[in-house]
Amino acid sequence: LNLVVLASGRGSNFKAIQDHIDRGDLAAKIQLVLSDHADAPALDLAQAAGIPQAALAAADYPDRVRFDLALLEKIKAVPCDLIVLAGYMRVLSQVFIKEAPAPIINIHPSLLPAFPGLHAQRQAVDYGVKVSGCTVHLVNDILDGGAIIAQRVVPVLPGDDEDRLAARILAEEHRLYSEVIGKIANGQIKIKDQSVTILD
Ligand code: GRF
Repeated sequence: LNLVVLASGRGSNFKAIQDHIDRGDLAAKIQLVLSDHADAPALDLAQAAGIPQAALAAADYPDRVRFDLALLEKIKAVPCDLIVLAGYMRVLSQVFIKEAPAPIINIHPSLLPAFPGLHAQRQAVDYGVKVSGCTVHLVNDILDGGAIIAQRVVPVLPGDDEDRLAARILAEEHRLYSEVIGKIANGQIKIKDQSVTILD
């Protein structure tokens, strides 16, 4: 399964996916890592792993659609069966979603539909929920609102702050994302347009 990863920052989810591939337990190949930040640590990680990478700066484009079209051009230049958002912090335009050459998935650090948007872990701590977790979902034009593919539950423990909860959730993200990509690769999860079928 050919992947294109979009990442704005730290890149730990990208790295976890690449590590699973390197260990031979994920039948996929990351063809390209793209970022909207030239200084994203994710790009350094990609370079260290020998994976082609590129950054586009929003400031170089007149509007979101033009930026997204440039992004699409880069994606369409490589083999791509799945677009994997891994900490990509820019909302994708409808044009991108419609024209994308492959399904787009995202991972979000809460049990959606609870706590969409930024600082999901802080929202969970502030609300006082006793469990949270992570969600892999299809990307549509509603922020964190596409069809849910998989979720993993993580406890919220007494004394948790945003960072402690985020670290516990992140460890689970690193497992879940690769599991889901593996199941897409082997056909156990089928994606057609905006719907997901999971076979046992
Ligand atoms: C993760 O918590 C992910 O759920 C969210 O952004 C964060 C990205 O972290 N969408 P990283 O860049 O993969 O380390």
